[in-house]
Amino acid sequence: MHYDDVILGRRSIRGYLPKPVPRALIEEVLTLAMRAPSSMNTQPYHFHVVGGAALDAIRAGNTQRMAAGIPQSREFRTGEAFAGAHRERQVGVAKQLFSAMGIARDDKDARQDWVMRGFRQFDAPVCVIITYDRDLAGSDDTAFDCGAVATALVNAAWSRGIGTVINSQGIMQSPVVREHARIPDDQVIMKSIALGWPDEDFPANAVVSERRPVAEAAMFIGFDD
Ligand SMILES: Cc1cc2nc3c(=O)[nH]c(=O)nc-3n(C[C@H](O)[C@H](O)[C@H](O)COP(=O)(O)O)c2cc1C
Repeated sequence: MHYDDVILGRRSIRGYLPKPVPRALIEEVLTLAMRAPSSMNTQPYHFHVVGGAALDAIRAGNTQRMAAGIPQSREFRTGEAFAGAHRERQVGVAKQLFSAMGIARDDKDARQDWVMRGFRQFDAPVCVIITYDRDLAGSDDTAFDCGAVATALVNAAWSRGIGTVINSQGIMQSPVVREHARIPDDQVIMKSIALGWPDEDFPANAVVSERRPVAEAAMFIGFDD
């Protein structure tokens, strides 16, 4: 695939075929992803690639604890609730997804079901948990580097026909993730990425999220044209 086809074609995938993804293919994707730049080439990240019974245990534990009202214990800062333009963009993509899925605004059950799917990693056959070395926790470069490798990963996967969604919901309950993914204490859990073969019949997979124009995001200084 050409670069533009990967970048412009990739969408977050939230419905997967129940078909295994070969380990060699995941290794190929990770090899490509790890070409991402990192601060001083420190490569502070680790990938915990989880499937089978371990992933099912994470899904179950995450869901049960959230349903029981146990406060989320993610290991990254989330800041304040989105407001203004950020909130508008958040609501915008949610509307696109709910519209594709036929979920009405006042249908609380269907909305709750959608949230639960997120806690279950959208029932993907594989979940990649990105962690980083705890001794680098004081540097914002570390989070930046994890983001860079995550972006490279989702695009590399797409270039091989594999769908992904970066998913903060899948790691709401950090002790569950730590236990079943066997994450050592000297690593911090940054993010999870659900991964698998896209289900082309799953309506939300067709959603193309919007982007603001470059003219709104970029300022050019010192250019004549
Ligand atoms: C840091 C991060 C966290 C995310 N967490 C979730 C999530 O919890 N649930 C979800 O459905 N999508 C999640 N997403 C996916 C975004 O909603 C998605 O990337 C965005 O709406 C743009 O859509 P696109 O990926 O299809 O281009 C997350 C993405 C990022 C980068």
